[in-house]
Amino acid sequence: MDYSVLKHSHAGLAYLTVLLFAGRFMLFYFAPVWRRNKLLKVLPHVLDTLLLVFAIMLCIRIAQYPLTEAWLTAKVIGLLLYIGFGAAAIKRASRSAFFIALLSYAYVLGVAKTHSVVSWISYF
Ligand code: HEM
Repeated sequence: MDYSVLKHSHAGLAYLTVLLFAGRFMLFYFAPVWRRNKLLKVLPHVLDTLLLVFAIMLCIRIAQYPLTEAWLTAKVIGLLLYIGFGAAAIKRASRSAFFIALLSYAYVLGVAKTHSVVSWISYF
């Protein structure tokens, strides 16, 4: 598969996952009856799995890996925080967990754009 197709699929999934997360959080917060919806339960796992599969394929293509490249280690840690706080936010309808999940996501996005562990700060 062409590298730019891989990268844009990974990035596209990254944008979809956060839109879906924010949408689900607000929907469940204001209309909890939607919590029982099967599609909304399964879809995030499908998107997140694909996001990770494309991430691994990208690492292999550029021969750079977490634990040896600091910016990729930072992405994995940020992704774990996003998933952990995201799951807690949805489960407990917790607004603070929701904001921490969004902050973790913004951090990872900055790391993706700058290839730096200091994320968006490296633009200043
Ligand atoms: C919430 C999680 C993630 C988000 C939001 C995200 C976002 C992005 C975005 C937007 C890009 C394209 C950057 C550009 O415009 O050039 C990208 C590229 C990339 N991502 Fe991720 N990513 C995430 C997780 C991961 C993880 C866990 C890994 C690997 C362990 C990873 C590895 C890569 C690699 C290798 C590239 C290509 C870098 C390049 O060619 O410059 N990503 N990511």
